[in-house]
Amino acid sequence: MKKKIYVKTWGCQMNEYDSSMIIGILKKEKNYEVTEIPEKADILILNTCSIREKAQEKVFHQLGRWKNLKKNKPNLIIAVGGCVATQEGQEIKKRAKYVDIIFGTQTLHRLPKMINTSRVLKDTTIDITFPEIEKFDYLPEPCTPNISSFVSIMEGCNKYCSFCIVPYTRGKEVSRPCDDIIFEISVLAQKGVREINLLGQNVNAYKGSTYNGKICTFAELLRIISEIDGIDRIRFTTSNPIEFTDDIINVYRDTPKLVSFLHLPVQSGSDKILKLMKRSHTVSEYKTIINKLLYVRPNIQISSDFIIGFPGETEKDFQDTLKLIHDVKFDMSYSFLYSPRPGTPAADLKDTVKKDTKKKRLYILQNLINQQTVYWNKKLLHSTQSVLVEGVSKKNIMQLCGRTENNRIVHFTGSPNMIGKFINLKITDYYRNTLKGHII
Ligand code: SAH
Ligand code: F3S
Repeated sequence: MKKKIYVKTWGCQMNEYDSSMIIGILKKEKNYEVTEIPEKADILILNTCSIREKAQEKVFHQLGRWKNLKKNKPNLIIAVGGCVATQEGQEIKKRAKYVDIIFGTQTLHRLPKMINTSRVLKDTTIDITFPEIEKFDYLPEPCTPNISSFVSIMEGCNKYCSFCIVPYTRGKEVSRPCDDIIFEISVLAQKGVREINLLGQNVNAYKGSTYNGKICTFAELLRIISEIDGIDRIRFTTSNPIEFTDDIINVYRDTPKLVSFLHLPVQSGSDKILKLMKRSHTVSEYKTIINKLLYVRPNIQISSDFIIGFPGETEKDFQDTLKLIHDVKFDMSYSFLYSPRPGTPAADLKDTVKKDTKKKRLYILQNLINQQTVYWNKKLLHSTQSVLVEGVSKKNIMQLCGRTENNRIVHFTGSPNMIGKFINLKITDYYRNTLKGHII
């Protein structure tokens, strides 16, 4: 009988991607299969996140629960990976001696070997180093894909925004060789994938080597991918206002396959706060990028991340953020209360904003964003949208669902042979987060 893995994933899309890589590697090299029931597993894997609040406590809580499972099953292996493991590996080893394996964001491909070692070793096996690029060499074959697939193109971040833990947990920017990416996407296209989502902490910082010793930029990579037969939609996540160069904007001008939807985090609408955040761009520089994009793509929708209650944020700074949200007409966006991350420069700044004020500001900001989301939904009413059909609707099995270019889910009545294809729908109604349509 095959041994079973259970994986619990917290955090961003990069972590989701890493977990699918972990599963791919263990299936291939150790012949494991996935279970959804922790009690049935032979190995439990926790892929952790440390971006905000109480990351460490949450990890020890979860491990405590798994410790109980180990009492009845002494051979059970418990492994902890991801950003908390990278940062707090030694602490986990000290406080939770029953953990067998601690691996980092850049060493997950070494898991099969670590499993072997942990079987003979009585002590915790730990490897949270940053072996540059090695991880990309171990990507498993693309597994049976859906119609939309993530493809990792780079990892890490050199920007060191003062509040952010990512450069410390993911390491510095490393780009995957261009030809490997093209090969993977071509294989995915042959297997029926129609939409690619390029993944990385800072995708527009991409600088990948090519077979002839040259460097391929992000803009060039987008152009090459758009030439691959079968791939009809290209997304990417996440990009940064720094290095959002004109050559990328020109790809929006020339390449309809690149969607008219862009997640470009700005964090704040106040230059003073942006400076304290070490964002290296001003509000007006951000707006210039958006204006250039609107010039070449008048229908583009922009979303962002916002941090509320950063140390020193005054009512005026907050109002400036609301003004920016209003001016750019941001679509659905993410917003968070500032959370000091130990080890980051901002953690030493005196937190001047009262908790109540922060919460009130977050509420007002989210309200505004919700109103604007509805504004964008309303704009789609009666329009014709190209929708990539994903499958049967989860809400109503008599209906299908798909996604528009701007990532809205549309429910409609159709036939199963439409799954995996692009079809044109007329939008007939809208709700807060979804749309209703019918086939033209
Ligand atoms: N470019 C990266 C950003 C990673 S962090 C990526 O998406 O891969 C994602 C978001 O979390 C940031 O844009 C920021 O809005 C938020 N964030 C990061 N550190 C934070 C902190 N200390 N407190 C609150 N929010 C934070
Ligand atoms: Fe974090 Fe800033 Fe990089 S938000 S991921 S340090 S661009």
